Amino acid sequence: MDSNLRELFDLLIRWVHLIAGIMWIGNSMLWNWLDRNLESRADAPEGFEGEIWLVHSGGFYQMEKKQLEPNQMPKVLHWFKWQAYSTWMSGFALLLLVYYMGDASFLVDPAVAKLSHGAAMAIGLGTLAGGFLVYDLIWRSPLRTKEPIAIGLCFVLLAAIIYGLNHLLSGRAAFIHIGALLGSIMVGNVFFHIMPSQRELIALTKAGKRQDAKLGKHAKQRSIHNNYMTFPVLFIMLSNHFPSTYGNSLNWVLLAVLMVSGALVRHFMNIRFWWPHWGIALVATVVIGVGTTFALMTRTSGPPVPQAAMDTQEKVDFSAVRIVIRQRCVACHSATPTDDQWKVPPSNVTFDTPEQIKMYAERIKARAVINKTMPFGNKTGMTQEERDLLARWFLQGSPVQ
Ligand code: HEC
Repeated sequence: MDSNLRELFDLLIRWVHLIAGIMWIGNSMLWNWLDRNLESRADAPEGFEGEIWLVHSGGFYQMEKKQLEPNQMPKVLHWFKWQAYSTWMSGFALLLLVYYMGDASFLVDPAVAKLSHGAAMAIGLGTLAGGFLVYDLIWRSPLRTKEPIAIGLCFVLLAAIIYGLNHLLSGRAAFIHIGALLGSIMVGNVFFHIMPSQRELIALTKAGKRQDAKLGKHAKQRSIHNNYMTFPVLFIMLSNHFPSTYGNSLNWVLLAVLMVSGALVRHFMNIRFWWPHWGIALVATVVIGVGTTFALMTRTSGPPVPQAAMDTQEKVDFSAVRIVIRQRCVACHSATPTDDQWKVPPSNVTFDTPEQIKMYAERIKARAVINKTMPFGNKTGMTQEERDLLARWFLQGSPVQ
């Protein structure tokens, strides 16, 4: 595909994905909030589950949650499903466009595992389909009534997937596939469980029958799962812009910690904590989550070069550095890139002149020495010795003459 066309599609689909995602997650949060804040009434009729008053947009809203009487169908009934479907469809289109139709270096990092593009795609798609299937089977099985066991099992399996993918695909691709898996589970819950149970409720009412409380409960269980997945998924979507996360040498630990912390924060928001207990738990979760992430980030920026190599007093010659950068980076990072995929310099970063190299020295260190997320997918085959050379050059103040 022409690279300008690809860029345009990427932009447009991402835009749609963001809008749909905001609408879906925003709705989901509002419904969950409503459910938690419903008030009961002394004279509540049968089937009444609660009511709530809201003020917004220049007026008052009165909402009531209830089961309908047989034959009591309202003329106009609003559904909420397209936000979920369009978020998933645009997300999947992006995955195809960027990771599957794009350069192999998006999916494969030879330093992680030497896979072919096809094998990496199979692993990615297999994770999405297989992951959803296993989750769905667990929550269809009798285990669904033994929630602590089912939740524990899901966490263990998810941790295994996080570990496995981060040892098979490039860090960036591993992260995005875990986000895509959670997103697919969420939309699968809407498509295979929440919608059918709503259709069933309506069918019963239309047929003049009593509504079955079990249906609502089943849908609610899946909807709560979705609610807990929102924060972790949003973190993963952002993480692709932070190479310090997916590029970390313990990226799977970092991801697991932030996912659990995100879900816990969501939990503390759900249960509307009482000070001080839940307040302390919330603060502790944030401190532990953020603290571990920071510790992991700084841990990998320790001495990146063997001590012996650091101790050499020998001055690094800039011309050697320049050759490395020309060989390993300039194929993409140049005003006139020669790479087959990137026809304009990525992020508008170019290393054609010593001044440009000097200007980006800190970022070069971060990407090529510390988290090793550049060269992209190590497409140009940069060696550890070359990274060590750059590291020594930084230690000597990154001189450019
Ligand atoms: C195959 C193409 C390719 C090669 C080769 C490559 N890069 Fe990149 N680079 C990219 C892409 C794509 C992006 C934007 C996505 C991203 O930031 O991960 C990028 C972004 C960057 C950025 C800007 C983002 C930031 O984190 O500040 C820096 C700096 C960078 N690369 C450094 C390097 C260095 C240093 C090398 C050589 C050791 C290198 N790149 C080699 C493709 C490449």
